[in-house]
Amino acid sequence: MSTTTLTPQTELQPYKSLENDELVARIQAVRLQLGSQLLILGHHYQQNEVIGQSDFRGDSYLLSETAAENEECRSIVFCGVHFMAETADILANRPAKLAERAGQRVRVILPDMAAGCSMADMAAIEQIQDAWDQLGEIIDTNDITPVTYINSAASLKAFVGRHGGIVCTSSNARAALEWAFARTGRVMFFPDQHLGRNTALGIGITEEQMPVWDPYANDLGGHSEEMLQSSKVILWQGHCSVHQVFKAEHVAMFREKHPGIKILVHPECPREVFELADESGSTGKIIKVVEAAPAGSKWAIGTELHLVNRLKEEHPEQEIHFLSPVVCMCATMYRIDLAHLCWSLENLAAGTPVNTIEVDEETAKWSLVALERMLEVR
Ligand code: 13P
Ligand code: SF4
Repeated sequence: MSTTTLTPQTELQPYKSLENDELVARIQAVRLQLGSQLLILGHHYQQNEVIGQSDFRGDSYLLSETAAENEECRSIVFCGVHFMAETADILANRPAKLAERAGQRVRVILPDMAAGCSMADMAAIEQIQDAWDQLGEIIDTNDITPVTYINSAASLKAFVGRHGGIVCTSSNARAALEWAFARTGRVMFFPDQHLGRNTALGIGITEEQMPVWDPYANDLGGHSEEMLQSSKVILWQGHCSVHQVFKAEHVAMFREKHPGIKILVHPECPREVFELADESGSTGKIIKVVEAAPAGSKWAIGTELHLVNRLKEEHPEQEIHFLSPVVCMCATMYRIDLAHLCWSLENLAAGTPVNTIEVDEETAKWSLVALERMLEVR
């Protein structure tokens, strides 16, 4: 262990050559200095070293709730991806909270600005608006509730807020769809077709009632008017490349090789895997299921590699496998490392903050409408 003196650098480069011990010591020095004014949030997919420095770890829903509720912190360093930091900014700086703090904002920092989400990038606001306008030519859009997965840009959440819709996470997607169907006869769900399809099938919608809108098709997302008019859920052609690697043959292979094994997957997995699984749920639910299982249980888990490896380490009394022979991690989550965390923290403490995420007022206002609905619906 070496120095704990704060020597902030606006350049990231020097931090990259530091040993982990030194980075940890310097991160801890900032945490000590800023105390409860600082909140470090870590998504379950973060690498262990980063989780070790987080005040709180959780899934998308729990991290949003934590950012929304925290009273003391004045800075949130979000170890996750861009849409999560945007969401934290909107919730922590909503008008009611700003009034309580006499207008003082909570600064939200994403340690590496390149930590995006490839699924979120599959739906741009211009594409969503274009699809909505095209649908408006053939369907009464007053009878469509837009539902966006939280894995989307703030501009999409604002769109949804403006049009009477709701944001969902993987842990409340079913409740969000039920909320939507209590209001309108039809739903448009984006950007993850798998979460949308798996959830809608669970409430009795059939595959035939769920056309997938292709934003690159020439007309009507690649469908006929009749198809769209008879639809119940219009899905978006987006997916998570991490969860797309899990295949039905992997389920069969684990069941054959490991009799008694249980398959546990995230609902971002394709339908055939989701339906073959014994259990499914958000990252938070996956952890709870494993924690509640008796010693000797056998699992093949279909979600991001860092979480599965952490579960293996934390539960040596159980047999845990990654549900694919191909190793696949979320490369953008992985961009957050101790060097980026230390660099952003030291600059924050020195009054030269870097990588602040601040959603513009108009987008934040309408996103909040849809996010508050999300927090009410479980
Ligand atoms: P949850 O945090 O809701 O489990 O979602 C996982 C994910 O893919 C986050 O991007
Ligand atoms: Fe996006 Fe998939 Fe990574 Fe989640 S795991 S952040 S959905 S790319």
